[in-house]
Amino acid sequence: MFCCLNQVAYFVGLFVIGLVAMKFGFYVQRNFFRKGYDVHERYGKDSWILITGATAGIGLALTKYSAKVKGLNVILLGRNQEKLEASEKEVKASNPKIKTKTYKFDFTKNSGYKSYLKISEDLKDLDISMIINCAGIEDMRPILTLEEEVMENITLTNVNGLSLLTLIFAKRFAKRDQRSAIINVSSHAGYAPLPGNAQYGATKAFIRSLTKAVGYELRDKLDMLCFSPGYVCTGLCYYRKGFEVVSPDDCGPCIFRDLGYDTENQPSTLHEFIAFIVPPILLVNENIPNLILEPLTKDEFKRMEEIRSKENKKDS
Ligand SMILES: NC(=O)c1ccc[n+]([C@@H]2O[C@H](COP(=O)([O-])OP(=O)(O)OC[C@H]3O[C@@H](n4cnc5c(N)ncnc54)[C@H](OP(=O)(O)O)[C@@H]3O)[C@@H](O)[C@H]2O)c1
Repeated sequence: MFCCLNQVAYFVGLFVIGLVAMKFGFYVQRNFFRKGYDVHERYGKDSWILITGATAGIGLALTKYSAKVKGLNVILLGRNQEKLEASEKEVKASNPKIKTKTYKFDFTKNSGYKSYLKISEDLKDLDISMIINCAGIEDMRPILTLEEEVMENITLTNVNGLSLLTLIFAKRFAKRDQRSAIINVSSHAGYAPLPGNAQYGATKAFIRSLTKAVGYELRDKLDMLCFSPGYVCTGLCYYRKGFEVVSPDDCGPCIFRDLGYDTENQPSTLHEFIAFIVPPILLVNENIPNLILEPLTKDEFKRMEEIRSKENKKDS
């Protein structure tokens, strides 16, 4: 009996070591040797990329990277015309050779399929080959303190808007001769139930599941990537600081490196490691990540409230 248990432990150990070694091999290949596809060759010369949430944070950084480094024509989608124009100016300055366009659209004020279809129809003369669904909101509060409107807006932006755009552009892309790409921005928050930010976490889990399933269905015509970072220093997480936080500028290089190769990625070694380690931990107990995660300190909450009230004043 003891001998049999020993053998089982031996083979389980070998299996785990094999898995970790394989994962490490992929990590080295991806981070040190992979160059990424030439987007013009793969998706079409002079084609356009549409980026939602292009007025701030990760979306703005991705827009600049697409224009400056990848030389793509960009359509910036956002809800605020002034911010759109300011971002467009920045993007244009980063590469005067590319073409730009802005599109004003608010996810919380449009919920039906037809209003989303109109985006694609209004842009029908442009050869759009890629879309990044980056717009997203969160509200880091326990559920009993959330107003219904907040709950609704998180769903409208993170789930409704993203999935309708995925559907509409998947159909449009299916008719293109060349391959196309859809990148949906999820988060580490989608890996495990997230008390204190439950609705946001659930929307990010939805995005992972949708992106991977549709990506598999349409693999012959589409490259679909689920981008799942941990903390990125933007307004969404109140410009959180720390060794685990990456810059929005780290996101573009890793998305374009892995697009067409992987179905999901993260922008740093630590973020990758967390994504690797969380699923087996969840098998033991799904609350372990929540016990380890540091709750916001009183000072951080205070800073968050200050930034929130400043932004509300600016918007009103
Ligand atoms: N920052 C992080 O730590 C982190 C980590 C993981 C995943 N993410 C994800 O990354 C994505 C981008 O987040 P971020 O950190 O860059 O946040 P951000 O700086 O707050 O930017 C969010 C963007 O979404 C736009 N947006 C928000 N509500 C909208 C609406 N109703 N209609 C149209 N556009 C709207 C914003 O427009 P305005 O400029 O008009 O506000 C802004 O351009 C989100 O999906 C987020 O969940 C972020």
